[in-house]
Amino acid sequence: MKKVLTIAGTRPQLVKVAAVSRVLRKSFHEILVNTGQHYDYNMAGVFFDELNIPKPDYDLGIGSDTHGRQTGKMMIAIEEVVEKEQPNAILVYGDTNSTLAASIVASKLHIPLFHIEAGLRSYNKEMPEEINRIMTDHVSTFLFAPTEVAKDNLKDEGIVDGIHIVGDVMYDAVKYNINLAEKRYNLKQFGLSQKEYILGTIHRADNTDNKKRLEAILQGFASIKDVVYLPLHPRTKKKIEEFGLNNILEKSNNIKIVEPISYLEMLYLEKNAKAIVTDSGGVQKEAYFAKVPCITLREQTEWVETIEIGWNQLVNPLKVDLTAKLSNLQDGQEVEGVYGNGQAAEQIVAIMKSYFY
Ligand code: UD1
Repeated sequence: MKKVLTIAGTRPQLVKVAAVSRVLRKSFHEILVNTGQHYDYNMAGVFFDELNIPKPDYDLGIGSDTHGRQTGKMMIAIEEVVEKEQPNAILVYGDTNSTLAASIVASKLHIPLFHIEAGLRSYNKEMPEEINRIMTDHVSTFLFAPTEVAKDNLKDEGIVDGIHIVGDVMYDAVKYNINLAEKRYNLKQFGLSQKEYILGTIHRADNTDNKKRLEAILQGFASIKDVVYLPLHPRTKKKIEEFGLNNILEKSNNIKIVEPISYLEMLYLEKNAKAIVTDSGGVQKEAYFAKVPCITLREQTEWVETIEIGWNQLVNPLKVDLTAKLSNLQDGQEVEGVYGNGQAAEQIVAIMKSYFY
C-alpha cells in the first residue's frame, strides 16, 4: 500500500481526520502525525476518544507559541518524520499553522501534497488562517475544494491544475455522528430547554485579541434575555482575564460559561438551540446542517453559501444590536447538497487512488 502522512493538530482538524481516515485506511497506509497545536484534553484528547480516531504514530507535542516559533518548530519536527517515513503523499486539512508547516515541508521535499478544504477565502489577510490557506493552496498538488465558489477562488489566483470539487468532509462527519449524539444526550444534563437557549462560541483572534470587540461581544451576550450557553475556548478565557472582562460575566445572569465541549455534545446542542452565535467557520456550517439560524460575529465568511441561502448572517460585533437581531431571526431556505452529499471522503480517496494506482 502507498504511504500517506496525515498532519493534524487542532480540534476542527481532528473531526475531519475522523471522517477521512475511516475511508482512507481501506486503500492506503496512513501514518498519523499529531502536531499537538491543541493539547488540553477537552480540545484534543476527547476527540480522539469519542470519534475513534486511530492513535497517532507521532505526537509532536508542539503546543502554543508565537506564530513564527510554533510554525517553525512544527516544520523541524515534521521534516524529521518525513525523512524517516518517506511517505508517497502528505495530507493536510484546513488553514491552521499545523497545515502551513506541513505544506512547506512537503513542497520543499517534493512530496505530493493533498489539501482538504482548499480554495476557501475570507479576503482578509489580517487573519492568520487566510495566509495559511493561500500558501497551502499554492503548493498543493491536489486541491480538494468543498464548493464551486472555492474552485473559482483558486482559479482567480491562477491555480488551474489538480482542483476537484468533492463536497465538505464536515458534512460527512455530521451525517455519521448526529444520530449517535441525539441518542447519547438529553437537554436536562446541560440544564437547558429545547429552542430556549443561544449556543455561542468565540475564538477567532480578531475577536478575542481586541479588547473592544471582545467586550462588545460579551456585553451583547449579557444584554439578551435568552440563556447563552458558552463553551469557552482557552484563548478566549485567557483574554477575558487579561483584559479584566470577567465582571461582565459575573454580573450577567444569562451567560452560562462551560469548558470546551466534545464534538457530539456540540452537534447535540446545535440541533436544539434557538439560534447560534459564533465566529467559527465550522459552526456556521453546522448551524445550516442542523437548520438553526446563525449569526456570525465577523465581517467576512469563507462559507458564503450559508449567507446566500439565508441560514447565516454576518455582523460587526462593535455595531450589532444582538437582541434586535435575535428577535428577527428567520429560517433559511430548505436546500440540500450545498456542501455535497456526505460522501466527500469517498470521493477524495477515489481521486487519490486514481493518482497512485
Ligand atoms: C487555531 C487555528 C484556527 C482554528 C482554531 C480552532 C491557527 C492560526 N488557528 O486557533 O484556524 O479555527 O485553532 O480552535 O492555527 N490553548 C490552550 N489549550 C489548547 C489549545 C490552545 O490553552 O488545547 C491556548 C493557547 O494558550 C494559545 C491559544 O489557546 O495561546 C490559541 O491557540 P492557537 O494554537 O493559536 O490556536 P487557536 O486560537 O485555537
